[in-house]
Amino acid sequence: MTVELDWGNLGFEYRNLPFRYISYYKDGKWDEGSLTGDAQLHLSESSPALHYGQQGFEGLKAYRTKNGDIQLFRPDRNAARLQATAKRLRMAEVPTEKFIDAVMQVVKANEEFVPPYGTGATLYIRPLLIGVGDVIGVKPATEYIFTVFAMPVGSYFKGGLAPSSFVISREYDRAAPLGTGGSKVGGNYAASLQAEVEAKEGGYADAIYLDPATHTKIEEVGAANFFGITANNEFITPLSPSILPSITKYSLLYLAEHHLGMKAIEGDVYVTDLDQFIEVGACGTAAVITPVGSIDDGEIHHVFHSETEVGPTIRRLFDELVGIQFGDVEAPEGWIYKVK
Ligand code: PLP
Ligand code: COI
Repeated sequence: MTVELDWGNLGFEYRNLPFRYISYYKDGKWDEGSLTGDAQLHLSESSPALHYGQQGFEGLKAYRTKNGDIQLFRPDRNAARLQATAKRLRMAEVPTEKFIDAVMQVVKANEEFVPPYGTGATLYIRPLLIGVGDVIGVKPATEYIFTVFAMPVGSYFKGGLAPSSFVISREYDRAAPLGTGGSKVGGNYAASLQAEVEAKEGGYADAIYLDPATHTKIEEVGAANFFGITANNEFITPLSPSILPSITKYSLLYLAEHHLGMKAIEGDVYVTDLDQFIEVGACGTAAVITPVGSIDDGEIHHVFHSETEVGPTIRRLFDELVGIQFGDVEAPEGWIYKVK
């Protein structure tokens, strides 16, 4: 059973659902954790998450299948990435089993908000880990809160599987060469807000960032990874320590090679070589696959396939990925977790 919502027209907006999960770390260990109806966090005014950005988060989705079941896509990968983020920011790690159990509890408790199959909408799940407690010097917290909340969402970029236009950020980097670009931490997004707002004011969906050391290579979009398709049947995506290791991207690398018979490559993507691509896409949990119709770089306007039509390879990749996520296409071993 689902509640009544305009499922086909959901945007990517916060919604306060009945239940979320919360767990506290103190004296070197996590408590059991539990569901709560309270959507407010209560924390010390001196929490390191607030002052020094000691926090990390994740994003994953629950999908309703044709027969009404609910399933998750590779939640173990999100757990592992949050652990890597925790290591980088010297936070307490959330064990994989605890992470997946928390996600399952939240999905089950809010089951009626998991959108019906066929609407294209999904339940977006946001795990969050923050350093809390009475700390004022710059040092890691000794107490942490791990919370998981969720909301039904539609497309992140307007139009879903319709091409969007992007602009290369020449004035702002989102990450530093040896910084935290490879971790899912709020600071990266704070650093991207200026470029994102300016991109949107210019009529673009978002900005595309260059490698912060040389500014010659494509890194990623503000909220998604980047890939391109060449006329030689290659799927190419940037390899860099300062981009987020996207679970969608690694899934597409696998599907491109093993399901579509393409050559899948992680490597340098120079801005000067952008015209090698006949199709370009942005990929991520929220973005799914968003076709990149065009990229502006100063005066240069690059068009990929079409500014209005989705290209054939991106459509095949989309059908394969989304088919797996919604249970219509057989998934590689271990990718799908049923919510029971
Ligand atoms: N890059 C950035 C900066 C992101 O925020 C996201 C979203 O999570 C991604 C890439 C895509 O990662 P994933 O496919 O794991 O959602
Ligand atoms: C995601 O795709 O899960 C993201 O985190 C992207 C964005 C909403 C920050």
